Amino acid sequence: MSSKVKKELLKTARGTRDLLEEELLIWDEIKKVAEDISRYYGFKKIVTPHFEHAELFGASLGEASDIVEKQMYTFRTRGGDQLTLRPEGTVPLVRAYFEHGMASLPQPVMLYYAGSFFRHEAPQKWRYREFGQFGLEILGEDLGIADSTIIRVLSLALKDLGIEAELELNTIGDKECRPAYRKDLIAYYKKNFNFLCKDCKRRFKENPLRLLDCKEPSCVELRAKAPQMIEYVCEDCKNHFKSVLDFMDALEMPYRLNPYLVRGLDYYTRTVFEFAIQGEEGRRIEVGGGGRYDYLADVLAFKHLPAVGGALGIDRLAEILKEKNKGEELQKLKNPKVFLIQIGEAAKKKSLFLMEEFRKAKIPMSQSLSKDSIRGQLRIAAKLGVDFGLIIGQKEAMEGTVIVRDMDSGIQESLPMDRAIERLKLKVKFR
Ligand code: HAM
Repeated sequence: MSSKVKKELLKTARGTRDLLEEELLIWDEIKKVAEDISRYYGFKKIVTPHFEHAELFGASLGEASDIVEKQMYTFRTRGGDQLTLRPEGTVPLVRAYFEHGMASLPQPVMLYYAGSFFRHEAPQKWRYREFGQFGLEILGEDLGIADSTIIRVLSLALKDLGIEAELELNTIGDKECRPAYRKDLIAYYKKNFNFLCKDCKRRFKENPLRLLDCKEPSCVELRAKAPQMIEYVCEDCKNHFKSVLDFMDALEMPYRLNPYLVRGLDYYTRTVFEFAIQGEEGRRIEVGGGGRYDYLADVLAFKHLPAVGGALGIDRLAEILKEKNKGEELQKLKNPKVFLIQIGEAAKKKSLFLMEEFRKAKIPMSQSLSKDSIRGQLRIAAKLGVDFGLIIGQKEAMEGTVIVRDMDSGIQESLPMDRAIERLKLKVKFR
């Protein structure tokens, strides 16, 4: 093996990365905050496999969607099965709903999930090939309050995390009203075909609605005069959207109506929404999104199941929180308040025994067992910002005592080990 190949092997694959302690503290916090709120609102957890039968995604996400066309990791197994690493979580949840007979449970079924998803996209900041999502789905409910609940819970999670994101909303109609809109949209873009960017020329044939979503300046200019869905929505869709907006108003949740919001997945009908922040140079960073997908089950299971859901992008939220130094803050909170300092061989031997006593007493403690000098160990203790130092030297090791040092005042007292544990239990609690 050449040294160049070897070097490459020591790096993660393109678009993927390792998450180390400081980032993981943020990830855990995001998941915990989102999970606590979701559970409070009645969502139950579900874990589905990282891969599914390839056909499951093909039909349901839209054969012509970017995800199916270019971004799926599909492979043939040794047994000859065609599998796909899940590019998103909604389709697997609808599959699970039918596989586990959830239609016979009281409706709606409310589920949440967190995990890795895989898309073969061009990697860059904010965009990875393996990324984390926290998602919510309400299956078996067509009322607007379901849409509002999803949006509400996701926005509460963002708020609790201290992330201010703008909520954008739109309705993209249903089977009744969208065809007429689509027809007029196609007619409009056909007239202006030559002004479209390369990608949009391709999308025009496959999914003309996506043209509204293009960020190329020429396409943005063109869409200003394009017909707008809101003028085409049927009475039912209009009433549905109105009820969603009424809930938003009643909850005093600010939102912006964006008539061009269409989303990148084909399964949506009626409500679609996105949460976004302003990134570098005013770039719009989508941190979450979702919508209603009333026909997805028709395609997947030949059964009708009105449903709505949404997901937050954990990598993106973690990046925002990292820039706000959230990692350091969490690390400080996690750091134990007691530091064990040992001097000499006998004390070192006693240390491991002592640590176990402290673990049983549920007093978090850190140490640096490989260090010998008291100075060096005190320096580490000060750096960690602990409240107490616990010192054992030769004498203490022999007598079965330990010196408890208050790091702020420098006051020290020598106590038998069991008394030291009792004392610290009280002190650590009272601080
Ligand atoms: P999505 O908009 O494709 O929707 O993804 C949801 C969120 O995941 C995005 O807003 C973004 O923050 C994050 N995300 C997507 N792709 C990447 C990537 N390559 N790197 C980093 N973050 C990314 C869905 O997946 C739908 N299943 C959401 C949903 C649930 N709709 C209904 N129910």
